[in-house]
Amino acid sequence: MCVKSEEFKRCDQSGFCTRQRAYADLVEKTNTQNASPYKVIPNSIDFNKKEGLITAKVLKTANNTLDNATPLEVYFKLQLILLKSGSVRMKFEEAEDNIKTRFDVSTYALENNNPEPSKKIDTKNDQNSSTFTFNDENDKTTLILTYNPFKVEIVKDGQVVIGFNQNGYFNYEEHQQQNENDNISEEEKQRQNEINELIENTQKDMWSETFRSSTDTKPYGPESIGFDITFPGFKNVYGIPQHTSPLSLTTTRNNGDNGYNEPYRLYNLDVFEYILDSPMAIYGSIPFMLAHKNDQSAGFLFINASEMWIDVEKSNTDTLTHWMAESGKFDIIFFVGKTPKDVITTYMDIAGKPPLPQYFATAYHQCRWNYNDEADVLSVDQKFDEYNLPYDVIWLDIEHTDGKRYFTWDLTKFPDPVALQKAIADKGRKMVTIIDPHIKVDNNYYVYKEAKDQDLFVHNNQDKPFDGWCWPGSSSWVDFLKPEASKWLISQYDFEKYKGSTEILYTWIDMNEPSVFSGPETTMPKDNLHYGKVEHRDVHNIYGELYHKATYEGHLARRNNEDRPFILSRAFFIGSQRYGAIWTGDNDADWNHLKASIPMTLSIGLSGLSFCGADIGGFFNNPDKELYIRWYQTAVFQPFVRGHSHIDAKRREPWLYDDETINLVRDALYERYNLLPYWYTLFKEASVSGIPMTRPMFFEFPENEKLFEVDNQFMVGSDLLVKPVLEQGQTEISVYLPPSEKWYDYKTHKVVQTNEEGYLTIPTSLSTIPVYQRGGSIIPQRLRHRRSSKSMKHDPYTLLIALDEKNEAKGQFYVDDGESFGYKNGLFIYRTFIFANNILNCSKYRSPDNINESHNEDELLMISERIERVIIAGIDSKSIKSIQLVTNGVVKSLQFNVESDDIVIIKDPAIEMKEVDWKIEILY
Ligand code: NOJ
Repeated sequence: MCVKSEEFKRCDQSGFCTRQRAYADLVEKTNTQNASPYKVIPNSIDFNKKEGLITAKVLKTANNTLDNATPLEVYFKLQLILLKSGSVRMKFEEAEDNIKTRFDVSTYALENNNPEPSKKIDTKNDQNSSTFTFNDENDKTTLILTYNPFKVEIVKDGQVVIGFNQNGYFNYEEHQQQNENDNISEEEKQRQNEINELIENTQKDMWSETFRSSTDTKPYGPESIGFDITFPGFKNVYGIPQHTSPLSLTTTRNNGDNGYNEPYRLYNLDVFEYILDSPMAIYGSIPFMLAHKNDQSAGFLFINASEMWIDVEKSNTDTLTHWMAESGKFDIIFFVGKTPKDVITTYMDIAGKPPLPQYFATAYHQCRWNYNDEADVLSVDQKFDEYNLPYDVIWLDIEHTDGKRYFTWDLTKFPDPVALQKAIADKGRKMVTIIDPHIKVDNNYYVYKEAKDQDLFVHNNQDKPFDGWCWPGSSSWVDFLKPEASKWLISQYDFEKYKGSTEILYTWIDMNEPSVFSGPETTMPKDNLHYGKVEHRDVHNIYGELYHKATYEGHLARRNNEDRPFILSRAFFIGSQRYGAIWTGDNDADWNHLKASIPMTLSIGLSGLSFCGADIGGFFNNPDKELYIRWYQTAVFQPFVRGHSHIDAKRREPWLYDDETINLVRDALYERYNLLPYWYTLFKEASVSGIPMTRPMFFEFPENEKLFEVDNQFMVGSDLLVKPVLEQGQTEISVYLPPSEKWYDYKTHKVVQTNEEGYLTIPTSLSTIPVYQRGGSIIPQRLRHRRSSKSMKHDPYTLLIALDEKNEAKGQFYVDDGESFGYKNGLFIYRTFIFANNILNCSKYRSPDNINESHNEDELLMISERIERVIIAGIDSKSIKSIQLVTNGVVKSLQFNVESDDIVIIKDPAIEMKEVDWKIEILY
């Protein structure tokens, strides 16, 4: 399988990418890194200490500019906002713009668009710079604003960690009137040499651009923004999803050896049969980059939803990145922190954290394009039970509708959707239907008619409703910039309106890049018009998120804000995490796609969207038995777990394979269900701090350089290390277990011995899933096997304790009703377990977000279950004399089994999770 690359642009086929890359090349060729045409006018600098706000005028002069189309002098406004978190936001725009108002996406993308400014700021000025030192006493950040050439640098502990325009690539195309003489004459073209060609390229496709058969009219001319961001001292940078490249980003200007030749592209696209290890754009875009070295992390965010290209260049010590956006605002944030977690939490405070999902959403989902009819759905459901395979949700793809008219049912196949959902609900399960954003042009289709009558569709460049081609044929797309449009979509989810929908029906939104089969690069023309005459080019990368948001709000509204929505989206942007989950799109039943699912989900996760997964088995084609098993074994340790396949792929429910496969898939699924209490606690943590549930190794071991490029093993939370088997026919595997910790085999609870460097090699059979528990951790589990997460709701818990070198451990446990927002009013249980001095202590977890912890005990009784088992590994078990539970001064002696010299299992302490301040004492 292979993408048709020629259907998608390369940088040299994109006008602004060519212009910006040529500008950077000119700087390099002419050695003018220090001759940037932008300079800050010193006496224009104004500092508002209360708001942490620095403003200044910046002048661009033509005489030393590399771009000879620029007028003599242009003025700009610069804003720098120093934030309490140690971050810096920077905005830059034309001082006057009579041509077009640049689109400000920040109000849509950021949850907190006005983060708290720093209150403590010291300033110092010299001839060519101003220095601002801010943040609290213990942790100081310094910003240096250099006037000529204009430069911004962020300094931590005396070292520059991020720089803007250190390399002189800053090139902001201010709006300008088209001038007939702008084009270079033919004679000039004749005497092309390398430099002239670059100069020419800096003028390319300014006023219109044609790709294949589509012409983009660009009525506002060139307006792109290019600049360099340097990370001195950092060899590894991560993020800027969505791509199929390794976790640690690859260089992009290497002319073939070791690296890419193309910049990473961010432009939400429906790419049929996407290729691996490529900087090509696919469905989602998050212009967030993380840089990390052993004693420092840094982050960078470009709040801009237009098409973007990013070059990454590395030297032995530093990383230089070159950001190029087609239009929109210059609005960037620099983040600094000691560790990746520090940077992510600061970023997530601004971009917004994911809400706590419903409990069922964290379990296993079964999908296919398509489950054909009611009988098919009921039979699949019944077979899961017959084979004792747990699952929570059954999904219906586009064929369930009446001719791809979303919000309707094909009544010949699904004559009674309400009864069908009732049958599914009776088993404690849920259903999901797909609702795509393209709306069939059909005056007899009420959804189309309503939207058309209210003029809610995106317009074409002639300002008439845009008509393109997608699954239903001729279609239109709702314009979510129009306030009435979101309201209208929200109302479509009303149970009265969406006939055949019930309370257990949730939503999958697909094709929301948006995918337009007849459009340039299978998407919407850039000169289409949104509400307020905003061009589609300015909005493109957030379109899918706006649809996600309105769908989320539709679900909230249909149950009066009483039920947590579950919405899966394919396209995404900064902030999409606030509205639900995403998946990695149309992958292939191929070992390399299984491998790629790890860096892909980790990279999306560290960019904010941690509720993410890949289609199990691969969407296209047919996985053989081995790949199918290995995929389940990997995916159950990723945040979103769904089996899905293409309409032309063979049916592949587990019972269609042999007995061994069914058994191993069942075992893998139970690994997920056993750990749901741990996962749910991690989802809670993510909703409070933004830290992803699954993490690159370097998140947990930020000082261990060996881990900076590792993307074939990962951490689930802080405590489980997963090293999936990713090779066909693999008979042994080598795992790196950071030597700073003690490690346990998650299944046997035995301490594992690595070699001195930390490597462990183990044989692998088809049933092997290499998972290790970190010494010092306590993991909550539920070990009774049932048909769905709901049927486990009243099951008791097991605590799995693995002691560290000091014989200590700690962990958290969170639970609530799994459905409502009652947790916001204290309806939850959040516990901290600490094991030290041979005592296991349980206390209330004081969550950092100051949630009101006034419990409503009546409600809690319904969700409080007992602990039925405590397993302690790494303990001196031989000489234990007795074990006792102490609650409110009452002592009860407990039964226990010594499993081996260092494992003891305490039997049924029968203490409820809602109890606090109890302890279990081990007596010698
Ligand atoms: C494309 C999606 O990526 C895929 O998951 C889905 O099955 C098809 N569209 C049909 O809806």
